[in-house]
Amino acid sequence: MSSSSLVVLFFLLIGLANSHNILVFMPFGSHSHKATLIPLIQGLLERNHSVTFITNQESSDLRYHKMMYNLDEVIVSNLNYSMLDPESAEQNFFQLAAQQSILSQLKIFRHLSGQVNRVLDQTYNDAGVQSILRHGTFDLLLLSQVVSYAGYPLAWHFQCPFILSSPNVLMTDSAYLLGDSEHTEYVPFFLMAMTDKMNLVRRVINTAFTHLLNIFQDNFVFPRLQPSIEKYFPGAPSLIEMKANITAAFANTHPAFSYPRAYPPGVVELGGIHCRPAKPLPRHMEEFVSESGSAGFIVFGVGSIIPMDEMPRQMLDVFIRVFSRLPQRVVWQWRGINKPANLSDNILLVDWLPQQDLLGHEKCKLFLTHGGLLSTQEAIYHGVPVLGLPFISDQLLNMDKAVSDGYALQLRWNQIEDKLLYRTIRKLIYQDSFVENVRRRQILLHDQSESPLERGLYWTEYIARHGGAPHLQLGSRHLNRFQRSLIDVYLILAAIACLFIFAAWRCLRRFEFFIRFMKFDLF
Ligand SMILES: *[C@@H]1O[C@H](CO)[C@@H](O)[C@H](O)[C@H]1NC(C)=O
Ligand SMILES: *[C@@H]1O[C@H](CO)[C@@H](O)[C@H](O)[C@H]1NC(C)=O
Ligand SMILES: *[C@@H]1O[C@H](CO)[C@@H](O)[C@H](O)[C@H]1NC(C)=O
Ligand SMILES: *[C@@H]1O[C@H](CO)[C@@H](O)[C@H](O)[C@H]1NC(C)=O
Repeated sequence: MSSSSLVVLFFLLIGLANSHNILVFMPFGSHSHKATLIPLIQGLLERNHSVTFITNQESSDLRYHKMMYNLDEVIVSNLNYSMLDPESAEQNFFQLAAQQSILSQLKIFRHLSGQVNRVLDQTYNDAGVQSILRHGTFDLLLLSQVVSYAGYPLAWHFQCPFILSSPNVLMTDSAYLLGDSEHTEYVPFFLMAMTDKMNLVRRVINTAFTHLLNIFQDNFVFPRLQPSIEKYFPGAPSLIEMKANITAAFANTHPAFSYPRAYPPGVVELGGIHCRPAKPLPRHMEEFVSESGSAGFIVFGVGSIIPMDEMPRQMLDVFIRVFSRLPQRVVWQWRGINKPANLSDNILLVDWLPQQDLLGHEKCKLFLTHGGLLSTQEAIYHGVPVLGLPFISDQLLNMDKAVSDGYALQLRWNQIEDKLLYRTIRKLIYQDSFVENVRRRQILLHDQSESPLERGLYWTEYIARHGGAPHLQLGSRHLNRFQRSLIDVYLILAAIACLFIFAAWRCLRRFEFFIRFMKFDLF
């Protein structure tokens, strides 16, 4: 063997020694839930790690990597994600949003939480998954927070550390699992319209909701899942024990668009990880937007799960009329068959919206969006003001925050009418403050010592390399909620103070008695 081939072999072996087997688990969830995992998977593959990705739909973004690298994508069949119950088709997102009622929002959560057993059964009855359970060995599990309950047993089964990856802010029990308290004094419950500055009443509500959710999950949801878990993982410990084994968590936050908070070691902020510079547009789209002249163009999209063609006809006509009066051109995402016909020349309907390539285009003036977290991050990354048209859940909160940060205005779906929509759009385009504010946030987002992707890759490799990170664990992990909030300590201190006050009062009484006695004696 020549010396040069020895050198090659040496480097190959070094490469193998440093490469890890990583399991990524997200058999259920939406396209945007997945979007934060995709760049990590791509990056890990490009660094020669092997990735096994358990998911519910083939990812077009991974097609190239699947050919070139060591990626095993295991598709769990029949686990399509829908936020609305497909059985009860009486409602669509536009009706839901126009009603603006808590009740209709709760329906979504009931529907989604009704799916947990189905997710478990479909996933673990899947032949591909079963084969991985039998033959796989892994150094690390990257577990999406969306289906964490279904993934905890995998870490136990493979005896590997795991990282929880949240598609949003840190979910309510992650900080707790890592030994921190929930900081409900300034961290708002992720589904409530509150900011990080709360008065006493709000702090009470915030604390109650946060803890009730955790208590509900640990005492009612998990015990109901335990039989299924034990069916597929005989001898598994309880879900609560298994999730307490967490090593680290990824949060999709950054102070450029999220409220800042203190994190325990092991929490890594990866907000904006999916954002990337714009790429050239397809020819017909580039022609359409570059002919917009100095007026520029507007992007209108409501995300991957809301079909635009469910929009009620009157509402649709308002948008069409208003857009036709604007000097700007409009690129409008429209999936579905019922395309509106009588559109003016400045409107282009597209099936597929290359959102970041459009937002990053120099002529882009405004982004009309449902206000999903990823879209909000993209608007900031590319520096485009926002007209928020939120439907549900965190979209409402994202847009409240964007409005208070001064780079957005928002309209509710039941407010949509010609004059208001027209005036709002013009204000956002022609009043400088909106673009100035979004550019300021853009600079903050870009001013980081490393990109969120580099950070995510570093921490993923770090934990795989060291087989966990016990040296990062807070000493408070073995303490319960009351102990962490020091309630026991304050109670004891309060008791000591009471005792002291009582004793002082008794002394005083004695003293008073003594004085009276002396007085009596003197006169
Ligand atoms: C991955 O492996 C290939 C071939 O074995 C090698 O050329 C490349 O430098 C490696 N990449 C990294 C990031 O180690
Ligand atoms: C799930 O989605 C795929 C692709 O979008 C589709 O072909 C399939 O019919 C869907 N299955 C169900 C049960 O809805
Ligand atoms: C916790 O992790 C360690 C190390 O991977 C493992 O040995 C142990 O079985 C895990 N415990 C539970 C309850 O998952
Ligand atoms: C478009 O056509 C529909 C019916 O075909 C009509 O009701 C609507 O007013 C038209 N909209 C505009 C903007 O002309």
